[in-house]
Amino acid sequence: MILLKKNNLPIGVFDSGLGGLTVVCELSRILPNESIIYFGDTGRVPYGVRSKETIIRYSSQDISFLKSLNVKTIVAACGTVSSVAAQTLDDLDVLTGVVRPTALAASRLTKNGKIGVIGTKATIKSRAYSRQLKIIDEKLSIFEKSCPLFVPLVENGVTSPEDPVVLEIVRRYLIDFKKHGIDTLILGCTHYPILKDAISKIMGKNINLIDSGRETALFVANTLEKSSLLANDSSKAKYSFFVSDEIESFKFEADKFLKWNVPYSLEKVNVQ
Ligand code: DGL
Repeated sequence: MILLKKNNLPIGVFDSGLGGLTVVCELSRILPNESIIYFGDTGRVPYGVRSKETIIRYSSQDISFLKSLNVKTIVAACGTVSSVAAQTLDDLDVLTGVVRPTALAASRLTKNGKIGVIGTKATIKSRAYSRQLKIIDEKLSIFEKSCPLFVPLVENGVTSPEDPVVLEIVRRYLIDFKKHGIDTLILGCTHYPILKDAISKIMGKNINLIDSGRETALFVANTLEKSSLLANDSSKAKYSFFVSDEIESFKFEADKFLKWNVPYSLEKVNVQ
């Protein structure tokens, strides 16, 4: 891992769309002096239904784009990229993906050793979370399920825990986890924390929901601190967002989700 030793440079964060904002949001709370450049590949979302080759190609282009903006480090805020293109992330010196920080948090919280994992089709097919959890503790029992309708729901702003359509979709995907008796559920796609209230309504309050966005942000904060790479306390954070499709719909959904009154710039770019 190579990190440039220039503390006030921005952190680069990317995802296929809105989901990585769950990382940005937490980062901005934990590290209020850090500037962030975010790229959401809204023109090509979803990644989670695509082949490994395509996911590797897209993520390499996303990373090159962020590198061209002179960021101090890069975070892959996408469960799919982190699961399917882990080697590419290492090869291109990305600081972290979401799988390891999220798996570590789940292994710390489970009491009965039964952990559920939900993610995109590509993430679940890769078994990256299972592998990581077994590396951490081989006695864990892991149950995995892909939830392909969750990303389109989030990208279209259909996330209310009061909406019967949302609740029915969540219920259908998650019902089996109740039979398995899990006590911890990994939200293995960074879009899914946006559905957290609906998921919690269906799973019940006693199940730990592990937010991949939050755990990744905590891991990044820790790593930057240990490497003395945090921005100075006097540094004023600046947020620059880029997307690969229409800016208006992204802005509408991002504002709804971020609930920020922090100014950010937003531009459309072509990273291909
Ligand atoms: N936020 C993503 C993830 O964490 C991407 C989902 C998708 O584009 O399918 O997996």
